[in-house]
Amino acid sequence: MAIRKIVTLGDDTLRKVCKPQEKFDRRLGILLRDMADTMYKANGVGLAAPQVGILRRVCVIDITEDHSGKLEMVNPVIVEEEGSQTGREGCLSLPNRQAVVTRPLKVTARYQDRDGVWMEIETEGLEARAICHELDHLDGRLYIDVMDRELTQEEMEGHIPEDDAEDDAEEDAE
Ligand code: NI
Repeated sequence: MAIRKIVTLGDDTLRKVCKPQEKFDRRLGILLRDMADTMYKANGVGLAAPQVGILRRVCVIDITEDHSGKLEMVNPVIVEEEGSQTGREGCLSLPNRQAVVTRPLKVTARYQDRDGVWMEIETEGLEARAICHELDHLDGRLYIDVMDRELTQEEMEGHIPEDDAEDDAEEDAE
């Protein structure tokens, strides 16, 4: 288990467009493993390679609490979007900040697994939000570029109206 250092806002790496991952080798396996370890240790639900200083189109996502839902996405693309959800979002590269961000409610994404096999996922709610957020990272985009508004310290600790909207959106989608 190796924890990598997460770069934060101000680091140029976060603003670069990442290159496709072309080799599906042991090195990629190690990167994916380290990225998952790093994400879990930081209590995040997603982490993109540029956040650990690697400019490749690679990310990991796991929105579950028991780490049972890990997605390893290599060269991911969103091929379909539907609806919208407005809710709270944070980023491991922007510690102690949160914002309200509007994202598609449902997405279909295509990506390669660690062996280079093309996969497809159709998902919604928080996982769809996480996919949009991580894919943005691969193009040097951060949530602050697309947010509706930033939360105050007080709002971060408490309830905001958008929390209800998020619940409704997820219920509607079930
Ligand atoms: Ni992020």
